[in-house]
Amino acid sequence: MYPFTDQFMSDDKKVDFLKATMMGPNAMRLSEELSSHLKINESMRILDLGCGCGLSTLLLAKKYGASVFAADLWISPTENYERFQSIGIDDKAVPISVDATKGLPFANGYFDLLFSVDAYHYFGDTEEMLPSLIPFVKKGGTIAMAIPGLKYEFGGNIPDEMQPFWNDEIARTIHSIDWWKGLWKKAEGMEILDIHEMACCKQAWSEWLASDHPIAAEDIQMMEAEGGKYFNFIQLVAKVI
Ligand SMILES: C[S@@+](CC[C@H](N)C(=O)[O-])C[C@H]1O[C@@H](n2cnc3c(N)ncnc32)[C@H](O)[C@@H]1O
Repeated sequence: MYPFTDQFMSDDKKVDFLKATMMGPNAMRLSEELSSHLKINESMRILDLGCGCGLSTLLLAKKYGASVFAADLWISPTENYERFQSIGIDDKAVPISVDATKGLPFANGYFDLLFSVDAYHYFGDTEEMLPSLIPFVKKGGTIAMAIPGLKYEFGGNIPDEMQPFWNDEIARTIHSIDWWKGLWKKAEGMEILDIHEMACCKQAWSEWLASDHPIAAEDIQMMEAEGGKYFNFIQLVAKVI
């Protein structure tokens, strides 16, 4: 399911690039799994929302030849443009600065696909967010997201071993499949096609924990405590109607 990522990671220099570019569980692997459930081709225009340093953009541009608008809040378009030049996707990828909570600077019906990996949970937990994004996708187009989640809602019963790592921000952003399904069902103008746990959760996490990133070093303790019991990655796919 991951030929592009596995090939990419067979080259030591590219692994160094990947380690320097990851901002969480390996976004290239997550993107490859998510995209394997979609029909993507080079004539498509994709909004990669919350692209970070652009690993998902790289996958979409190189594996499928699609045109990608690489939109992010924390990472500057200049930094991403320089990175896109260095990896030869600057003809396919347009870096842009957005805050999804403040509206997007695109025409209605502009995108064939709204794609988002490990980002939507930061801003997508309200009833208003999804309806605000749907108009940017053409009718018949697709919304596809991968987000870190929980196997079940903790509610007030946070497991003892997770208490040291739990805070209001995690409680706001990390939810179960049923929680996301409930929220997405409220949105009009789209039909949910698929919501399921992703297969690469463990591998994507271990590739992140093996990077030299200081945040990954902090995550090691949390993932040891979690021990595969509570976290998952959730894939959500919907069709705009
Ligand atoms: C954990 S990083 C993941 C980045 C990238 N998708 C990846 O997996 O490597 C989360 C990303 O969400 C983006 N993000 C958070 N809030 C956002 C918002 N309101 N609008 C757009 N992007 C946002 C951040 O800029 C950040 O790059």
